[in-house]
Amino acid sequence: MASLSLCRRVSACEATLAVLLVVAALVNVTLIALMATWKTHTDPPSPQDSRYLIGVGRADCTGPPADIPLMGYANPEQTAAGIHTRLYSRAFIIDDGRRRVVFVTADVGMISQRLRLEVLRALQVKYGDLYRQENLVLSGTHTHCGPAGYFQYTLFMVTSKGFMKASIKPLVDGIVKSIDIAHRNMKPGRIYRSRGELDHSSLNRSPHSYLNNPKDERDRYQWNTDKQVVVLKFTDLDGDGIGMLSWFAVHAVSMNYTNRMVSSDNMGYASYLMEQDKNRGQLPGQGGFVAGFSSSNLGDVSPNTRGPRCMNTGLPCDYLNSSCPVGGTKMCKAFGPGEDMFDSTRIIGHDIYRKAKELYAVAVEEVVGSLQAAHQWVNMTDVTVQINDTHAVSTCKPALGHSFAAGTTDGGGDLNFTQGAVEGDPFWDRIRDALLGEPSNQTQECHHPKPILFSTGEMNWPLPWHPQIVDVQIITIGSVAVVAVPGEMTTMSGRRLREAVKQELESEGAFKDTEVVLAGLSNIYTHYITTYEEYQVQRYEGASTIYGPHTLSAYLQKYRGLARAIAQDKVSELPLGPPPPFFEKNLFNLLPAPPVDRAPENSSFGDVLQQVYPIYRQGEVVSVTFVAGNPRNSGDIRDKTFVTVEIYDNRTDSWEIVHTDASWETRFHWLKGSNQQSNATIEWHIPFVAPCGSYRIKHLGHYKHRVGWQTLASPYEGTSDVFRVTGSTY
Ligand SMILES: *[C@@H]1O[C@H](CO)[C@@H](O)[C@H](O)[C@H]1NC(C)=O
Ligand SMILES: *[C@@H]1O[C@H](CO)[C@@H](O)[C@H](O)[C@H]1NC(C)=O
Ligand SMILES: *[C@@H]1O[C@H](CO)[C@@H](O)[C@H](O)[C@H]1NC(C)=O
Ligand SMILES: *[C@@H]1O[C@H](CO)[C@@H](O)[C@H](O)[C@H]1NC(C)=O
Ligand SMILES: *[C@@H]1O[C@H](CO)[C@@H](O)[C@H](O)[C@H]1NC(C)=O
Ligand SMILES: *[C@@H]1O[C@H](CO)[C@@H](O)[C@H](O)[C@H]1NC(C)=O
Ligand SMILES: *[C@@H]1O[C@H](CO)[C@@H](O)[C@H](O)[C@H]1NC(C)=O
Ligand SMILES: *[C@@H]1O[C@H](CO)[C@@H](O)[C@H](O)[C@H]1NC(C)=O
Ligand SMILES: *[C@@H]1O[C@H](CO)[C@@H](O)[C@H](O)[C@H]1NC(C)=O
Repeated sequence: MASLSLCRRVSACEATLAVLLVVAALVNVTLIALMATWKTHTDPPSPQDSRYLIGVGRADCTGPPADIPLMGYANPEQTAAGIHTRLYSRAFIIDDGRRRVVFVTADVGMISQRLRLEVLRALQVKYGDLYRQENLVLSGTHTHCGPAGYFQYTLFMVTSKGFMKASIKPLVDGIVKSIDIAHRNMKPGRIYRSRGELDHSSLNRSPHSYLNNPKDERDRYQWNTDKQVVVLKFTDLDGDGIGMLSWFAVHAVSMNYTNRMVSSDNMGYASYLMEQDKNRGQLPGQGGFVAGFSSSNLGDVSPNTRGPRCMNTGLPCDYLNSSCPVGGTKMCKAFGPGEDMFDSTRIIGHDIYRKAKELYAVAVEEVVGSLQAAHQWVNMTDVTVQINDTHAVSTCKPALGHSFAAGTTDGGGDLNFTQGAVEGDPFWDRIRDALLGEPSNQTQECHHPKPILFSTGEMNWPLPWHPQIVDVQIITIGSVAVVAVPGEMTTMSGRRLREAVKQELESEGAFKDTEVVLAGLSNIYTHYITTYEEYQVQRYEGASTIYGPHTLSAYLQKYRGLARAIAQDKVSELPLGPPPPFFEKNLFNLLPAPPVDRAPENSSFGDVLQQVYPIYRQGEVVSVTFVAGNPRNSGDIRDKTFVTVEIYDNRTDSWEIVHTDASWETRFHWLKGSNQQSNATIEWHIPFVAPCGSYRIKHLGHYKHRVGWQTLASPYEGTSDVFRVTGSTY
């Protein structure tokens, strides 16, 4: 109701709401940064001392963990309500004395164009031309459990309850802070690379599409997903590790759409484990060692390794359309490898961490050579690709197909869409035509055989529904090329792109034995990129390839151009391309500010409603419930915590914090009640290695109240009774 009254102030709001309802029900929408600069250092390090100057930095970028939809599944019921693990931005700056590149991987669903533009503006104010669009790559890990609302295109605003300053600001500030930290601690160092394979941690979720690729191409590969893990190890000149970057292709969707807590999912957990390992004795998010686990060509790759089953009957789903005989698409869901989603996140995250750690330990192949950075903006709506001597094809204005609304076996849509639809459904087409208008014949033909559900390239109210201008970018660090991909490439698309870039780089002889890695979800989000052959099948990934069947061919052409410019050392001759828009007007926000908080009669904020037991064994779960305020009233929550678990130290008669809300072992659930009242239930899953002793749990927050005509957010805290933890066996 609140959003209705708010909406009335916006003209034609009924249409917005109708669209909101339809799209929100349908959609299953799914950061690393690199920077290079041509700045000459006033005090260049001498080559015999060091290969590079290296800086690493990590900063909290967690946004408001309440009310805001989580970005990824586009499930309107999945709004934030607490924190499982915090979200971090991790920055890596490398300088060869002549040029500089920055790679940032952030725990977000994807980098949006707006987010990147705001980060670039903030960096311009601080550093002038040092960090620019050419040398900064921002990539997202693709967690589906971070706050949405940081997009300027209408489709994403519709599924995110709008564009929210409160959402985008912590991301911008956190990313910039991670770069600030890396910038400040740059020192001479070395880089080593290694690669290996990780099995049993990923599964192709559209094998039927994959099988449509040419047989001779498929025969060159053993698997239908990429299993390689590539690791870069950063050390100082003494050989002490300062950081690690790795790439592995898997969706960060071990947490499913029933989870309401902000979470960095499997990739974030891998970073967490590696950093806890290297920064011994530090709380999560602290310590100098930075471990980035970046996304890659994960478009058709699921972490739910037991595969899809019908949730109601336990029988296999239909292979072609991932539908169940009873209940349709919604009932077909992939699970595993764990008992529940937390266990699955733990297993997959731990697998990726273990492999990366192993590769880090054996990385001896030193990366040497200069840095390069190439970037262009491309109008993806009309790229012409010459496919042979006589034939040219073109990309299309953006559009989403019917199967987009079916979602995937990692989280299906609510309505009766199925994957693999090459014919529209007259029922939904009529609704679409009435609400949003009919797609033009030109767009329909261009996207053939995709039956268009949303002709987003022809929808411009109140702002364009999808972007036209897209970033393409490659940075090279010696023999390592990082290709920033503006979306989710499928396994085979990624292989074709890696091969094309490698071929161009090595064509001039300057590059040899090049390791090409793809950084997914970078710079701007344009959904999926399948091969032409996969597109014909129109499963979810094909239906979400928004610039039409030749999207991949166009990207291959563009990235080849960048790679060739790098190989020929002619990057400065690349045309800039048309800059993307930065919308100032018509951004909308459908989420009203939180109201004042109320505590139940005769109680205050921070009071304990459900007390702890006096004694627990290791491995058990402590739970305590407090009277709480809305976490949105805590404002900027970066580098703070809603939770502490504290142990009593009887030598100093003081309490020492052993966990925060960033810890894997803690869960902060925010439970919103009626009447502006709410609870915070905090769980501590006591690890088996927890020292025996006396503990307490604290909850910290803010409540909003009225002071005269104004409202004010005041801090509160609450503390549980002291409880003892004893050995797991008596
Ligand atoms: C999915 O495909 C099967 C045949 O493979 C068909 O029987 C079923 O009706 C399809 N389901 C839907 C919802 O289209
Ligand atoms: C999500 O995971 C939980 C277990 O953690 C499970 O009970 C539930 O069925 C899953 N739901 C979906 C839609 O996958
Ligand atoms: C992109 O190209 C299309 C088709 O040529 C054109 O209509 C549109 O104005 C271009 N967009 C931008 C932002 O330049
Ligand atoms: C060029 O490609 C088109 C479309 O795939 C095909 O019909 C045509 O035969 C090809 N021409 C040559 C010379 O290969
Ligand atoms: C989806 O549901 C609508 C309304 O119930 C119905 O008219 C339509 O035929 C259904 N489509 C499919 C493919 O089952
Ligand atoms: C598409 O073409 C058909 C037949 O040529 C025509 O009847 C129809 O009005 C056209 N639709 C649009 C949206 O232009
Ligand atoms: C609140 O406290 C007052 C005074 O002690 C008491 O009369 C009243 O019953 C209490 N209300 C509740 C809900 O406990
Ligand atoms: C502190 O706690 C340890 C372990 O419970 C106990 O052995 C020791 O006597 C205590 N010391 C003091 C000063 O209370
Ligand atoms: C808060 O906790 C109290 C006591 O356990 C319970 O009665 C109440 O329903 C809870 N409120 C919410 C919103 O969960």
